[in-house]
Amino acid sequence: MTPEVLAKLQAAAFSATRAWSAAEFASLLSHPGTRVIGDENCFILIRNVLDEAEVLTLATAPAMRRHGLARRILQEAEEQAKAQGAATIFLEVAENNTAAIGLYTSSGYSQIGRRPGYYLPKDGAPIAALVLRKSLATT
Ligand SMILES: CC(C)(COP(=O)(O)OP(=O)(O)OC[C@H]1O[C@@H](n2cnc3c(N)ncnc32)[C@H](O)[C@@H]1OP(=O)(O)O)[C@@H](O)C(=O)NCCC(=O)NCCS
Repeated sequence: MTPEVLAKLQAAAFSATRAWSAAEFASLLSHPGTRVIGDENCFILIRNVLDEAEVLTLATAPAMRRHGLARRILQEAEEQAKAQGAATIFLEVAENNTAAIGLYTSSGYSQIGRRPGYYLPKDGAPIAALVLRKSLATT
């Protein structure tokens, strides 16, 4: 997938916050250990650093939601991260993002922290991020 396609899908998925530009995606993907899995319906961007992996972003096109795409791609990302040496995987999610929190908690992630004011919506007050983590030992 090109940075342009990633930026377009992310902008459609995250309508309330500023989306990343194609240049920002290209820059992220130039870092060793960072890769994208998916297609124009659903993608995940993950980064492996030593024995830890991080989900940088995950998005499903609005018309394709609730078909299990994100759950499947998250599982694939975990398997790839583990194969590359990660023992744990973590991510940040807005504390009002019911859909994503439902996906992560039902996929075995637990809250390990909270970062107040982390996200700045286009309109409205800053929103805290929850930091979630999952052990990949049994994945
Ligand atoms: C969060 C998101 C990626 C889920 O994608 P999806 O492909 O629709 O998710 P799935 O169909 O695989 O659903 C997996 C689980 O997530 C949860 N979930 C998904 N959408 C939900 C919703 N609208 N409300 C509550 N729970 C939801 C459910 O637990 C669901 O399992 P179930 O269908 O068995 O009940 C998608 O809503 C999205 O792109 N949102 C905007 C971007 C975003 O928030 N990304 C995550 C940032 S950390």
